[in-house]
Order: sequence, then C-alpha cells, then structure tokens
Amino acid sequence: MREVLNFNFDWDFHDGDITNTNFRSVHEMFEYPIFLKSANCGISKVGYNKHEWDKVNVPHDLRHYRCVYDKDVVAAQGFLSTGICWYRKEFYVAEKSEGKSIVIDFDGVFRDSEVYVNGTFVGRHMSGYTSFNYDISDFILCGQNNAIAVRADGTKFEGWWYEAVGIYRDVRMVIADRLKVKPDGVFIKYEIDGTKAELTVDVEIENESAKNGIAQVKIDFYGPENQVVATVENDVDLTEYKETSTSINAVLNDIQLWDLENTNQYVASIAILHNGIKVDEYSQKFGLRTVECNPERGVILNGKPVKLQGVCVHDDFAGVGGAMSRAVIRHKIYLLKQWGVNAYRTAHNPPSPYLLEACDDFGLLVMDEVRLMSTSKEYINQMTALYKRDRNHPSVFIWSIGNEEMAIHGTKMGVQIINHMIRLSHQLDPTRLCIYANNTNWKNVVDFHEAHGLHMDVFGFNYYCLRTFDSYDYIHNKYPDRMIIGTENGSAISVRGEYLLRENALDMLKDSNLKTMIWANEKRKYNLTAYGESYTIWGATPLETFRTAEPDYVAGYFLWTGFDYRGEIIPYDYPSTISQFGLLDLCGFTKDLGHHCRVKWSKEPAIHLYPHWTFNEDVGELEVDMVANTEEVELIVNGVSKGIVANPKWEIVQNFVQYEPGEIIAIGYNNGVEVIRTSHRTAGEPVAVKAEVVQDREYVANGEDNIFVHICVVDANDTPCPNADNLIEYEVSGAGEFLGCGNGNPFDHNNEMLPHRKLFNGLGLCILKTAREVGTITLTVRSKGLVEATIEVEVTAPATDVLVAAPKNIKPVAQREKDAADNAL
Ligand code: GAL
Repeated sequence: MREVLNFNFDWDFHDGDITNTNFRSVHEMFEYPIFLKSANCGISKVGYNKHEWDKVNVPHDLRHYRCVYDKDVVAAQGFLSTGICWYRKEFYVAEKSEGKSIVIDFDGVFRDSEVYVNGTFVGRHMSGYTSFNYDISDFILCGQNNAIAVRADGTKFEGWWYEAVGIYRDVRMVIADRLKVKPDGVFIKYEIDGTKAELTVDVEIENESAKNGIAQVKIDFYGPENQVVATVENDVDLTEYKETSTSINAVLNDIQLWDLENTNQYVASIAILHNGIKVDEYSQKFGLRTVECNPERGVILNGKPVKLQGVCVHDDFAGVGGAMSRAVIRHKIYLLKQWGVNAYRTAHNPPSPYLLEACDDFGLLVMDEVRLMSTSKEYINQMTALYKRDRNHPSVFIWSIGNEEMAIHGTKMGVQIINHMIRLSHQLDPTRLCIYANNTNWKNVVDFHEAHGLHMDVFGFNYYCLRTFDSYDYIHNKYPDRMIIGTENGSAISVRGEYLLRENALDMLKDSNLKTMIWANEKRKYNLTAYGESYTIWGATPLETFRTAEPDYVAGYFLWTGFDYRGEIIPYDYPSTISQFGLLDLCGFTKDLGHHCRVKWSKEPAIHLYPHWTFNEDVGELEVDMVANTEEVELIVNGVSKGIVANPKWEIVQNFVQYEPGEIIAIGYNNGVEVIRTSHRTAGEPVAVKAEVVQDREYVANGEDNIFVHICVVDANDTPCPNADNLIEYEVSGAGEFLGCGNGNPFDHNNEMLPHRKLFNGLGLCILKTAREVGTITLTVRSKGLVEATIEVEVTAPATDVLVAAPKNIKPVAQREKDAADNAL
C-alpha cells in the first residue's frame, strides 16, 4: 500500500554554489559536467565526499541560518544576505519497493530549484512558492542506498518582502503502486440540500503499469467522528501506461457543516482495486459548507453573513526566519484566531499546504493567491498547481488572481490576461469566484474593462477606498451584482511597547528614502512608537478601516498585516530590518493596534489601556489611551478618576496625564454598570525571570513539533517590567532542543539560532523543538543577577509518521578517507 515517508531529516547543507560536481566521472576537466551525460551530477551520488557540509533538517532557510546582514541587499528583502546553496541526502530504499512508483514531493523550495537523484537531473522548478513533485521511480535503486541533491538559487527574488532561500518547506517521499490516484488528482464538489450533501468526486488515475481491464475505485467517507458514513464504488477501464479518470457520485446524510466555530471535516479514503486486490489508497480531506458571495450582504457562510475581519500575512516568524514548520504555521494561526481574526489572505503567493490545513482546523476563511498576474505557460502552470492542490479545503472561499498589477490592469494586454485568468479559474474550480486586488481607483478602469468585455467576479479594493469613500458606492451602484471586498487595508506602523520617540529616530530618518511614504498625525509624523498613528500614504489605521466596511454590501477587509515581517522596512532604513505593519510583532506579541482590533471584534465586553505605567519619574505628561467596546469608559490614575465619559464608537479615548508612579485603571460600563476593567502598575527593578508556555496542548514526539515560550522579567511584586532589555540565556535538556529565539526588535541583528538574546520592551520568545522520543523537555531561562526560571514540558504523543530509511552499511571511515583521497580535487 501507499507509504508516505517523512523526508525532512538529516540533510547535508552547503552554503554556496558548487560548479565542480565531478565524482567518479570521466569528465574531470569540466568545471560543470552535469549535463554532458546522464547520471553526471556527482553531488547526488552515493558516497560523494567533497566540499563542506553541515547537517540540517528541513524546513531550512539559508539566509536565516547564515545570518549576515548586508547593507547592499535591497531594503525590501530585509538586508539579510542571500545566495545559492545545495542540499544532499543519502537514504535507503527497501527491496520490497521494486517496481513501485516513487515520487519525491516538495511543498516549496526557494527558488529556481534543480533536483538530481543518483547523479541524474530530475527537474527544475522556477517558482519559490508552488509545491511540486517528481516521479523518480526510474532513478531509484531498491535494496540499495540512494542519493538526492537539490540546488536552490536565491539570487533573484519574487517579492518585495523577505523570502527564505533553500528547502524552506517540508519534503516527503511517496511510494505507491504504479496504478494509483494522481497527486492532487481528487476534486470533491457538492451541493448541500438540507441535511444531506450530494457529492461528485472526480478522481484522476495514473497507470504507469501494464495493467489492463477493469479496476474498481471504492470510496469510504469518514465523518468528523472518524466513522464510515458512506461507501461508493465505480468501475474504470484501464489501458496499460495510460492515465484515466472517473467521476463518482455519493450522498452523505445528516451532515455536519464546517464553519468558523465548528470545523467539522470529512475524509474520502479512495481505494483502487485491480483483480480484487487493493493496490492504492489515497486520503482526501474536505469540509462541507456553502459560501455565497452576495453583492448586498457580503460573504454568506452556511446561510449566515460573515463580515470578513481579515489580515494579510507574509511567511516568516521570529526564531526561524522563513523556515516554516507545520507547528510554526499552526501557532501563527492559533494566535490570530485567539484574537478575533476570521479571514486570512495569503499575500501575495501560494502558501504552504499546512497554512490551509491550519485555517481548516482553526476556522478561518482564506483568500488564496497566485504570485502574479500572467498567462505565460509558467504562470498558468503555477496557477493550475495551486488550484489543484488547494481546491478541497473548506477554508478557501475565493481565489485571488493578482495584486496591484498597475502596469497592466488598465491596458488592453491586461484585459486579455485577466479575462484568460478568470476563464481558467472557473474551469479549474467552478465552485469558487476569483478576485483581483486593485490599488488604484476602480472607477478609472471599469469603463475600459467593460468596453473590452472584461467583468470581474468580485472587486478587490486595496486601500483606495479610504480617501475616496465614494468609490465603494460607485462600484456597488454600477455593478449591483458583484461583491466588494477590502482586499488590503491598514498599513499602519507601530513598534510594540515603545511609547517614547527613539532618541536617534529623526537622525535615522534623515537619510531614509522610505520616509516619504509615511502619512501621519502631524504630531507623530515619523514617530514610530506603539501608539500607531502613522501609516503609509496609501493607508489608514485599523479603526478607520473598520468604518469603510460598515455598509452591508462591503464584505469586509484584510488588514496589512497580521504580523510584522522581515523586509519592507518603512520608514526607517538600515539598520532596521523588519516591517512595522504588524498588528502582532514578529514574535506574535500583540501590539496596541492589535488590541484595538481585538476589542472591536470581541462579542464580550473588552477594553484596552496603554501605555504601561513604568517610566522615568521625570518623563512629564503622557498620552493615556483607552479603546473599549462598552458604552462608557473611565480612567483612574492613582486612585483619582478622570471622569466617566461616553465611548465614541470608532475613536480612541485620549487623556493627557502627568506621570507619577503608581497604577492606572481603565473601566468599561454598560447601562451604568461596570462590565470590564484592566490596569497597569509601575514596576520596580527586575528580580526574576518568568517563562510561560503559550499553548496548552499535547506535544508530539516527532522531532518537528514546536513549543513557544514567552519570556519576561518581573519585580519583587511579580509585576512585569515593560522596559526590560535584559540578556536572557536559554538551556534545554531532555526530550527536545532549542530551536530559536526572538524579541521583535527591528534593530537587533543577532543570530536568532543562538540560545541567548536580549528582551525587547520587556518581552522575548523562545522556541523549542521536540525530539523523536516521548519524555520531558526542561528549559532553564537565566539572566545575570536574576532568579532563574525553569519549566518542564511533557511531550506525550508519540510520532505517527515514518521517516525515509537512513543509508545502510555505510563504508568504514578508512575506506571513506581513501575515497576522499582518490576524489580530491
Ligand atoms: C501594498 C502592497 C503590499 C505592501 C503594502 C505596504 O500596496 O500590496 O504588498 O507593500 O502596500 O503598505
């Protein structure tokens, strides 16, 4: 039966290109002999022993691993140096796999990757974002050791944000019968009628074998409680070495719908039987829900309108760079969900498949986006791969066919391309609409589009609505049958925990080319603090953005961005390296702007008060802000009320207060009754370190699960010290290891893979990685002069995945040394 083997562990990694790949080859005189003959790439041969290699696991990011900041690297990419790198890995394939189909499956390699197996060129894949796989059956030797090599070239970029380089997503090897379901070859479409769903399951079947005659395709449907709820079967005619396909109908009764609170999911287990023998079994998850894009009421999920409270997100995180494990991705989605986000835009590229899995599981709607707007063969292939991979996810509610393609969208060529993409989108997935995220005034292009026969499915507005409120109305009135979404809004900038202007801020801005992009409250122009009153000239604050989405006909908005990300640093230039757009910082700590959203989205009474209340005594007057969703609010400073005031719907309640140590309290009232309160107390000097695991869940001993630990220091009364920048050291023992750490500081160039780092405005993040053994991980957190903290994390769930086998009977050292001498350059 089908085996899916984890291929993430024990890669050899080389930083830099290798042109002389000669190894046991007659082409010693050639610098680059790979394409002279078949099987001529030495790096991917068993026993290759030249050059320096580090042992790494993937996901892996060359740029983060190397951690060299270079002023000459473009600011938009975060100044981390880049390059070309190679990975290689030896592995054993058992004799029992003889005659099977063997496929190597990459979730993403950045970028322009080349893959070689046992010396042989297998394929080249340009996109750094789409998943791809290669059938390597012919190149694998069963009952023997084999080798694979991957070259990744990060010298060109695909985005104006930080991009990881290397094998930055998962890899697996799939060994199956040569008569099998094709990778991404299943599409489950359905109509829901009351409590039942009528399904059509399209199955593409690959037959790389001599099998002829009839095969049966049998589908067992498993319900959310993991019980078989229906079984259907169909015969297909096979012709040797020829693909085929079938469509099978099924009815599921008493269905449990997927929605944002109950993320019920089903599995179609698709078996292929030949001569009565089951030869393949393929699992396809899916969910049942209806999504209507209603021009009057927005997105209607299972009959109920859902205002999109979305965020756009790029793919990196503190401690790991762009090497995004499944656990890091799930952690980011967990944080967003906790905080009230219900929609996610994969700006501006195909995401990791684990992102969609996480949105399915936590209950977020996804706008799934292609990298760019084009219908060249390359980009049609990218779009097709994305749609085929992601079309069964219940979370995906719409496809995005482009972002801000200003050079073409109002031209004849653009019309041709967009029309082609819309047509292809409908062909690939007749169950969803597509959208284009435009950042110019739609008014100015729709007449041209109409004259040339182009009609968008849904209108995506990036920003432009804000200073031209009427453009939403204009489009709505002109096209009353088309929905409108704020595809990208916000772009407010703020630094977590920083309430006073940095001393050198204005100096830093003096030479920055980026400062002209800022539009702000004049008082705080370029004042990159936590107050978050600055935003790009095309942007707005989140609270202002919410106003644009008030009409029922606006389906919602996607704020730029959920998290800070490396690159696109605005407005400071080098040595800043991280964008400040996040509602959460790079570590996932919520900024005040994030709290604004939390409070406004909360269905329960909620209030937020800032700044903290620990300043130098001579700081003078401070702005104290409250944001609440209650009818009235009150600020109390050291026991003295500043009065109960009405809480205007969209505004921040500001007070200007002469600082004196003590306590500030914010209280929210409804009907004159206190319903919520929050406070800050002045902290004294730090005396102890505190560490807290973020998520209380079962941790898996698979060598890849991650534990996120929040770090702070506290005074003698256990009050967190919000300005602390103590250097923290991490020591890990037991059933896991240290993976990385972060603090969200845009100016901190220290390597996040080293187990020590300063706190930034009182907070730090430590990420641990489980081993492949059940047990206890002990993390000790130390800082000079402070009481240390120790936490223990139980890793209770054993690994369920199977690793590809390690190479067998590796030659003794003496023989390896002799080979090395024979092969010396
Ligand atoms: C948008 C763009 C985003 C990001 C943002 C910053 O125009 O689509 O990728 O650059 O601006 O404000």
